[in-house]
Amino acid sequence: MHVEFYERVWMWIAAALIVVFLGVIVTTAAMGAIQPPSHIETIDPTTIASHPEFGAPAVKTNADGSVTASVVAAMFSFTPDPIDVPAGMRVTFRLTSSDVIHGFHVVGTNANAMAVPGYVSQFSVTFARPGEYLIVCNEYCGVLHHGMTGKLIVK
Ligand code: CUA
Repeated sequence: MHVEFYERVWMWIAAALIVVFLGVIVTTAAMGAIQPPSHIETIDPTTIASHPEFGAPAVKTNADGSVTASVVAAMFSFTPDPIDVPAGMRVTFRLTSSDVIHGFHVVGTNANAMAVPGYVSQFSVTFARPGEYLIVCNEYCGVLHHGMTGKLIVK
């Protein structure tokens, strides 16, 4: 069978790309480089209601003045709501979901994470400006996804 020279070249290039991409997947999987965002902390999403931290999620002030905000996302709200945090202080969000994957994005800031059932997402952020911020879910989670919002109050 006769194959044009340039067609043969491109076939080899395409084959080489497939080998490279498969190699990247196998390498990152084998080296443990594919992980959920943040640290790895698991939680049983079916027993969140009786969990010591996420059973009654709240904002707690630590000894050094920083703040830890535990948040549960569930169809179609965030708990607690509103979330009150101080301005100019390091706020560590600890986030999980009791049903499906939700998003947690504080609009106008870089506070943005996924709430994945079975995992605790953790990130820290400092809000410089006091005010009221909208929190939106940015992962499609069901018919009322568009209405899944919360409020963050920075004082
Ligand atoms: Cu929760 Cu979209």
